[in-house]
Amino acid sequence: MEQPTPLVIDTDPGIDDAVAILLALASPEVDLRLVTTVHGNVDLAQTTENALRVLHLAGRSDVPVAVGARGPLVHPMAERAGHVHGAAGLGGVQLPPSPAAVDPRPAVVALADLLTTAEQPVTVCAIGPLTNIALLLAVYPEAAARIGRLVVMGGSAGAGGNVTPAAEFNAWADPEAAQAVFSSTVPTVMVGLDVTLPTVLGADGVERFAAAGPLGETAGAILRQYMDHARRTYGVDGVVVHDALAVTEAVVPGTLTTVPRDVVVDTGLGATRGLTLVDRREPSGSATAVQVAEGVDSAAAVEFLVSRLAALAAG
Ligand code: RIB
Ligand code: CA
Repeated sequence: MEQPTPLVIDTDPGIDDAVAILLALASPEVDLRLVTTVHGNVDLAQTTENALRVLHLAGRSDVPVAVGARGPLVHPMAERAGHVHGAAGLGGVQLPPSPAAVDPRPAVVALADLLTTAEQPVTVCAIGPLTNIALLLAVYPEAAARIGRLVVMGGSAGAGGNVTPAAEFNAWADPEAAQAVFSSTVPTVMVGLDVTLPTVLGADGVERFAAAGPLGETAGAILRQYMDHARRTYGVDGVVVHDALAVTEAVVPGTLTTVPRDVVVDTGLGATRGLTLVDRREPSGSATAVQVAEGVDSAAAVEFLVSRLAALAAG
């Protein structure tokens, strides 16, 4: 078997972030070398504590956690997503505290160090607001240029928004950062609502890994609040685990059908702030084109997630 791909997850846990981190830990194709935390679903202190606790839950408190940006680059967010993820961000579930401390380096420094020293190209999977990635591009452009693949959960090509009628949450939380990332030359895959909304993890799938062992049971408990939210918001009997689909693409490149597109983010202060305008007139050949995910085998993606979480839970 080939050497596993070094992986970094930049995250704002967050219920689906927690599931995504567990999926990465369940996947031998990748080696989770670093988790960087960012403001987003809840505040930075809470996303950081949640990242530490999720890693500890999986017996992986050896994975370093470096603390990133506590807010967007320019304008403050109007609101967070505590009503979706619970006030503490993990669906009301209190995980045992981790014995690990955060890495002493700021997130962008830890990320730059890893990118500079890694023995092979690193995949970075960004599943929260893109503030840390934009800061990396600005402060350590030579390190950012060493990113093998940047897989972003964010944006929407034609599926509208979730936090507003126009914008997906991660792009909306820091549109200036999203614009910097989507206009960079880093090889980027945009995993947006177009492919995440159809990919619904049903109650049967949750029960499968919940029954596989204590870790699965805890993951199931974390997801239950999300299921209630999905039922109320999207009218679906299941959960849209947006971030887990991005990690699936990071773990198995090509899971999603992508097309190179130019992407512009609305950084205005009006009703469409955070909208990702994807030029779908024809595939783009520009150096800053983003591989926009436009096709997904949702059933296969859900089965991939459930089977791996069940295996992780079974130990
Ligand atoms: O729009 C979905 C995204 O916003 C996910 O990353 C979820 O965790 C929230 O951060
Ligand atoms: Ca997230």
